[in-house]
Amino acid sequence: MELVKGEKTYIKKLKREHIDLMQRWGRHEEPLFYCYNFPRMNEEQKDYWYRNKTLWFSKKCFVVFNNCDELVGYIALRNIKTIKRTSELGIVFDPSNIGKGYGTDGLKAFLGYYFRTLKMRALYLKVSVFNRRAQRCYENAGFKLLATVTEEFEDQSLPIFQEDCFIPYRHFFQLDGERLKCQFINMVITRDMYFSRRGR
Ligand SMILES: CC(C)(COP(=O)(O)OP(=O)(O)OC[C@H]1O[C@@H](n2cnc3c(N)ncnc32)[C@H](O)[C@@H]1OP(=O)(O)O)[C@@H](O)C(=O)NCCC(=O)NCCS
Repeated sequence: MELVKGEKTYIKKLKREHIDLMQRWGRHEEPLFYCYNFPRMNEEQKDYWYRNKTLWFSKKCFVVFNNCDELVGYIALRNIKTIKRTSELGIVFDPSNIGKGYGTDGLKAFLGYYFRTLKMRALYLKVSVFNRRAQRCYENAGFKLLATVTEEFEDQSLPIFQEDCFIPYRHFFQLDGERLKCQFINMVITRDMYFSRRGR
């Protein structure tokens, strides 16, 4: 069942069969984005991945289709606080379908579902300082900057300080002992921010 519709996309709840479609997604060529490549999995791993995403009250996962009914994106709510009515956003789109406006459209539509249907109060996210494309997408959807922080990078195996191709990005990173850390931007959109842009 379609939960909400944008102009270029529509959103559904994640189902087990969607994982097979996500296995056909393209791959990021840029090493900084390798950690967003959807993992190739056997049937058992897919079952485990699906259970892990759907078993917990603190998580909700969704998929984004374009108007040609292709599954182009994945949106996750993590750390859902049912009393405070807040959560954290995770968003990953098919590398073959990025930069086509689906992320912004899907996220805008999703925010309607988040604030109007789920009646949540705020949505938080964390984005790497180097990830300008994601930041643009979030700004376009109405998120605002909260703080810049230094935290562990998702992909600890990335050879930032070993390989020359990373020289332009090194200033975003630092080594804390053995741990690779990166600068991140924390962003938020609240219910009031959403409705003051859109109207009730
Ligand atoms: C982040 C992501 C979900 C955005 O979805 P998308 O469909 O690619 O985004 P859109 O096409 O809707 O919009 C991208 C915006 O960034 C801009 N943009 C694209 N490439 C850019 C770049 N290299 N630098 C700066 N801006 C860029 C586009 O112009 C557009 O902004 P505009 O509408 O103001 O012109 C998607 O790119 C993705 O999955 N990336 C890999 C995973 C990831 O980074 N996830 C977020 C982790 S916090």
